[in-house]
Amino acid sequence: MLARAVTHALVGLEPRRVEVEADVHETGLPAFAIVGLPDRACAEARTRVRSGIASAELDFPRGRVTVNLAPAGLRKEGSGYDLPIALALLAASRQIPQEELNRHAAVGELALDGRLRRVGGVLAVAEGARRLGIERLLCPPESAPEAALAGVRPIPVAHLAEAVAYLRGELAAPDVPATEETDAVALPDLAEVRGQERARRALEIAAAGRHNLLLAGPPGTGKTMLARRLPGILPPLDDDAALEVTRVNSVAGLIPPEQPLVRTPPFRAPHHSASTAAVVGGGPGIRPGEASLAHHGVLLLDELPEFARPTLEALRQPLEDGVVCIARAAGRAVFPARFQLVGTMNLCACGARGDPAMACTCTAQRLAAYDAKLSRALLDRFDLVVTVPRPRAAELAAEAGEGSTAVAARVARARTAGLLRRTADADALLSRAVDKLPLSGRGRARVARVARTIAALAGVDAVQAEHVAEALAYRRQELA
Ligand SMILES: Nc1ncnc2c1ncn2[C@@H]1O[C@H](COP(=O)(O)OP(=O)(O)O)[C@@H](O)[C@H]1O
Ligand SMILES: [Mg+2]
Ligand SMILES: [Zn+2]
Repeated sequence: MLARAVTHALVGLEPRRVEVEADVHETGLPAFAIVGLPDRACAEARTRVRSGIASAELDFPRGRVTVNLAPAGLRKEGSGYDLPIALALLAASRQIPQEELNRHAAVGELALDGRLRRVGGVLAVAEGARRLGIERLLCPPESAPEAALAGVRPIPVAHLAEAVAYLRGELAAPDVPATEETDAVALPDLAEVRGQERARRALEIAAAGRHNLLLAGPPGTGKTMLARRLPGILPPLDDDAALEVTRVNSVAGLIPPEQPLVRTPPFRAPHHSASTAAVVGGGPGIRPGEASLAHHGVLLLDELPEFARPTLEALRQPLEDGVVCIARAAGRAVFPARFQLVGTMNLCACGARGDPAMACTCTAQRLAAYDAKLSRALLDRFDLVVTVPRPRAAELAAEAGEGSTAVAARVARARTAGLLRRTADADALLSRAVDKLPLSGRGRARVARVARTIAALAGVDAVQAEHVAEALAYRRQELA
């Protein structure tokens, strides 16, 4: 007897229909095989499904059992196939009705005791089901809220026995766990930063225009502190962006069930020892990299020169295209990665360079080696470069600075600015800068964009020469 269940494989964030076909030959020698390009975690479904069916006090089909995951050319990764495999087997041995199973898609990992465990990517799987016109998705309870975002009806099942009882019509569809709009966690506030007016201003411009920002200076001057305060002045995500961010974070299993839709721009700060695969994406798993988890938000690379050079170079593609492309056996996986890059760095290996109170002990050779850690091409991706000097005693003793709420309000207002024309004076200054600095075509475009943001923050309807002048002042000089 042949039976089938529907689920989806993900190629990047793209759901691809997978039919789980179960074939039971009662007269054959007892065997259980899964074919159709399962990876190791997926192949191990044999153990979990067998044990799960026993725990649910159901019968594992007798004889020769073959499960085919079609299409065979598509690699099946992870443990999310457990539930559809178990259900197809139970339909093949007539323990649940196939007609009822046809109206559902299914996803979820089985524990050995038959309970369901959440897996990543359920939002995209649910979107795939919806595209096929399947209205119901059997899934673990923790995954149900994110599945609901796709517009399908999630059927949360805590145990395989519950799924079976439901499909037999012995149990009404269980309720989806309630979600609540919990209060946003308090983000660190700019009021705690003393002095550093220039860096604060650059942070505000970066927030308003989603520009990439590099903070350079001696240690202990507040660079990390400032960078961590960027999320607190960013506006919340709009509906489309929220869904995109949720989709990526769902694949990484990072969606809290009580608040499935991500509304705050993500903030990711990988350690400099992180691998290229961890930062950019790829590797054997299906996890998107930090660059994609930071989609529509901030990627902070604290101590930029400490990151492995190949990792930094691999970030140039997403910085240019807003996506990460990973070659895979199943084809090309694409993850979105339109993040805002913030970097911090010292000015030399000993850290004293640029600090009037300390003497740099680096040799000329060491200074050159330090400068060579970052490619010109990467440094050119930073629209705003600011040196953060050691604050003077008077600055540190001063009153607390302006708080994040006030800055966020200006940022939000600037984001709503429409098209701004450029005055003749502004154009003339830009052209002079192109000749004198000199500026490349790309450099010119970047200065023009920053100038536009500065004008938007000022609330005026034209980009003026003073806005271009300020934008030019954030160009990368020789850093020290
Ligand atoms: N401008 C500043 N205002 C308030 N505190 C500061 C400032 N700069 C440094 N600090 C204090 O010093 C600590 C280290 O700052 P940090 O941001 O880590 O420096 P950096 O990243 O530049 O090395 C902070 O946690 C904070 O307590
Ligand atoms: Mg730091
Ligand atoms: Zn030094």
